[in-house]
Amino acid sequence: MAKSLIVYYSLSGLTKKVVDVLKNFTDADIYEIELEKPYSKLTAYTIGLAHCKTDYEPAIKNEIDLSNYDKIFIGGPAWCFTYAPPIHSFIKKYNLGDKVIYPFGTATSNFGNYFERFAKECKAKEMKKPLKVFKSTFKDGLEDTVKVWLDEEYIK
Ligand SMILES: Cc1cc2nc3c(=O)[nH]c(=O)nc-3n(C[C@H](O)[C@H](O)[C@H](O)COP(=O)(O)O)c2cc1C
Repeated sequence: MAKSLIVYYSLSGLTKKVVDVLKNFTDADIYEIELEKPYSKLTAYTIGLAHCKTDYEPAIKNEIDLSNYDKIFIGGPAWCFTYAPPIHSFIKKYNLGDKVIYPFGTATSNFGNYFERFAKECKAKEMKKPLKVFKSTFKDGLEDTVKVWLDEEYIK
């Protein structure tokens, strides 16, 4: 039976917290996007932001075979009012044309065009409504927020 997969990038660990909750509820497999040249918390604001503005695709270090998965969660942080470059690399590198995609992301306060651009760039069989997790949600209500979204979009 096809399993679900959670694909994510997380620089400072907040998106990883969402992944942990998703994993608890779904028992999906997990794949963390790792880069050949990882960003640091300093270079994210210099090189990373420049990469966002130029649609750059940083090289991914680790491979994944997606053939066993038909439902894929894909998430990362908002950078510069869009999704972070490693997410761009992933959705451009892999053929997702036969997958149902469940987008999620974390942001301090403003996702900008993150999910609009994601829906445009990610060529999927089906694109679900995104899960948006703001910084405030981490203090209280993360599990409930994820559960409500899963009930609506994933667990039918
Ligand atoms: C380079 C950079 C740019 C960011 N740009 C935004 C932004 O445009 N809007 C926003 O709300 N938060 C922005 N943030 C904050 C992150 O989206 C937020 O802290 C996120 O939850 C971090 O996720 P992570 O811990 O998984 O890396 C930015 C953070 C970094 C490092």
